Amino acid sequence: MNPDPETNVRKRIVTIIGARPQFIKSAPVSHALTAEGIQEYLLHTGQHYDYGMSQVFFDELGIQEPDINLSVGSGTHAKQTAEMLAGIEQVLLHEQPDGIIVYGDTNSTLAGALAAAKLDIPITHIEAGLRSYNRAMPEEINRVLTDHCAELLFCPTQTAVSNLRKEGITRGVHFVGDVMYDSALHYAELASSRTHIVNEHRLTPGKYLLATIHRPYNTDDPSRLNSILCALSELDETVILPVHPRMKHKIAQYGSLIKEFPDSNLIMIDPVSYLDMLILEKNSKMILTDSGGVQKEAYFFGVPCLTLRTETEWIETLEGGWNRLVQVDSTSILDAVHQEIDYPPRLPVFGDGNASRLIADILSRS
Ligand code: UD1
Ligand code: UDP
Repeated sequence: MNPDPETNVRKRIVTIIGARPQFIKSAPVSHALTAEGIQEYLLHTGQHYDYGMSQVFFDELGIQEPDINLSVGSGTHAKQTAEMLAGIEQVLLHEQPDGIIVYGDTNSTLAGALAAAKLDIPITHIEAGLRSYNRAMPEEINRVLTDHCAELLFCPTQTAVSNLRKEGITRGVHFVGDVMYDSALHYAELASSRTHIVNEHRLTPGKYLLATIHRPYNTDDPSRLNSILCALSELDETVILPVHPRMKHKIAQYGSLIKEFPDSNLIMIDPVSYLDMLILEKNSKMILTDSGGVQKEAYFFGVPCLTLRTETEWIETLEGGWNRLVQVDSTSILDAVHQEIDYPPRLPVFGDGNASRLIADILSRS
């Protein structure tokens, strides 16, 4: 499409985001779209709404404020997704965009893709082709369905491209690298001069561990959650744990089923901003997580990672033991922390930090 001579706008896109990692993924892409003359209407579903899970990222990363926030909030999968669908449809009918962009695999992703598909609006899926092959994960359903509705599929890894090929999806597929790598490179540089989180918590760089836990598999079973917290509290080193609201609510709900650890080295804090998180990651000795994004950031920064899950979508990070899948019980976690590993050099499997620019370029020409 030629640019509108009056506005210089080549294309109008509605971007649909709603959960913490989507604010982080969209930041570099939004900047690249603007540079390409693509006008973006930002729709926030309201899936995440606490200041520390949402607004902090807009304030810190220089993302434009959402044009609309549907304020859908929390709920069961069906209720949450259905409310998003109805709200997104209204916006798409009103805005009549040339296309939509969705990220990752949350309920906001699926709702955006379904609403657009029914209106025959082309869908761009960023972080396409990821698979855990575990259909018990709500995210697996969300990503499979989104990929099968999408016209343009931007893959962060070659594994993602081959996962799509196995499902017969080859048209519109592009390997561009990971937009989270773009974000991490850009914002880590900024973060070093802007945050004081390491001093604030009296952490010694290279001597503490960082943990994050939010998957229902780990939080929604009291004995599994308890065994994770027991393991973290038994370590000699300091462990800093920014607590995701899902985990916070579950700890409160389970009451005495979860032990208290008054004399341990475990520091539980509220979720932190992205710049603080990058600095916590870079300076940690090891990361324990079930987060997709945090596993990758550990790899980007060369920090060994233990993933408290039975599988990962990011299989490249397992190479050489940089990331290890660990059975979720106290003994297995403690054994894995103490295992000595000779780490080989890491491979540049997530692109070269230019994924966002490649995406904007392909979108402007499509
Ligand atoms: C969601 C995504 C998951 C993603 C994660 C990123 C789905 C199905 N899951 O999981 O893929 O990895 O976001 O963090 O889309 N809550 C608050 N305040 C908030 C947000 C949530 O208190 O701002 C609490 C509510 O009790 C809510 C619970 O956290 O019920 C879970 O939130 P929800 O968005 O449903 O799922 P997440 O576990 O955050
Ligand atoms: N993150 C953050 N503050 C925190 C915990 C995580 O900014 O307290 C960032 C983290 O650096 C990564 C992203 O949030 O970029 C990962 O989001 P999350 O773990 O919620 O979701 P997932 O990646 O598992 O979908």
